[in-house]
Amino acid sequence: MCSTRNSMTDPGQKAERLLEVEGLTIVLRHRHRPPAAIARDVSLHVNAGEIVGLIGESGSGKTMTAKSLIGLLPDRMEVVSGHVRFRGRDLLDGGDPGRVRGREIALIPQDALHALNPVKTIGWQVGEPLKVHGRLRQRRIANVVGDLLERVHIPDARRRVGDYPHQFSGGMQQRALTAMALSMEPPLILADEPTTALDVTIQAEIIDLIGELRDATGASFLFISHDLALVSSFCDRIYVMYAGEIVESGTTDAIFNHTRHPYTRALIGAAPRLAGNPERLPTIPGRIPRPHEEIRGCRFRERCPEAGAACGEAPRLETAGGDHAYRCWYA
Ligand SMILES: Nc1ncnc2c1ncn2[C@@H]1O[C@H](COP(=O)(O)OP(=O)(O)OP(=O)(O)O)[C@@H](O)[C@H]1O
Ligand SMILES: [Mg+2]
Repeated sequence: MCSTRNSMTDPGQKAERLLEVEGLTIVLRHRHRPPAAIARDVSLHVNAGEIVGLIGESGSGKTMTAKSLIGLLPDRMEVVSGHVRFRGRDLLDGGDPGRVRGREIALIPQDALHALNPVKTIGWQVGEPLKVHGRLRQRRIANVVGDLLERVHIPDARRRVGDYPHQFSGGMQQRALTAMALSMEPPLILADEPTTALDVTIQAEIIDLIGELRDATGASFLFISHDLALVSSFCDRIYVMYAGEIVESGTTDAIFNHTRHPYTRALIGAAPRLAGNPERLPTIPGRIPRPHEEIRGCRFRERCPEAGAACGEAPRLETAGGDHAYRCWYA
């Protein structure tokens, strides 16, 4: 079920640490109540050439974590503590994290259909980062855009650069956004739910494309999704996020075959493809707490079938050997 295809994770080989996030806390400021934590003490890393999954239910803070890395947090949201290092440089320390956007870290935003401008051609939009960064002359940009669209397998790419988004299918729009992210040849791409709006066959094609691009360009991906079953087939490592916290992380094999956290177990159980029971569509009972809700102890406690007396105190991060870590007293 779980395959890891990346030779760069060979234990004999020391991979370059591309992105390192340490103790990142993001808050949302309110006028009438105390700030609410959107991400709490989040630590994660991505090595060169890896595809790393960031998984969790809706509202767990995946998108805001990704956006904070490139200075795209919305109004009233800010990073209050932690470090973000990219190739060893601290992006939050005295600088604008936005300066790495596009060139070093690109974002494929959630919801392709709304991310593209309906009144600009696909070619214009895919070429925009190249124009903004003033890298190439107009004629050369047109050629590069054609190359990029070919690279993401848009059929008849050079003719279709003049098409508008509505002339592209959902899968092709997603490919166009991927081409845009690739335009500046960034070493790291944050892919935020790039397959959610697509049907299963097109999803599989986008996944294959990401694997192919990683192999061809050496780019790393942080792949954000709520679908654990989907990422099991191609991510090297996985971070499981719940209510703003990373509750378990490890290699794809450790997450699936040596699961420690009850939330990870619940996510696996809620995925019919993994639970081996395609007729039943179980969900996790209860709901994810909202950021401003004060919860003492473990944030999953209310929904956890294994909760006990110890859970009134927030669990520490424990390690289970290698990269495998979890936050649970009873794991
Ligand atoms: N612009 C905003 N202003 C205020 N709060 C926001 C804003 N965007 C998101 N939030 C809140 O921040 C929290 C984390 O949201 P985020 O979008 O990061 O979740 P997510 O894990 O990406 O969820 P999804 O799977 O639905 O995309 C949520 O409680 C959400 O309501
Ligand atoms: Mg999101």
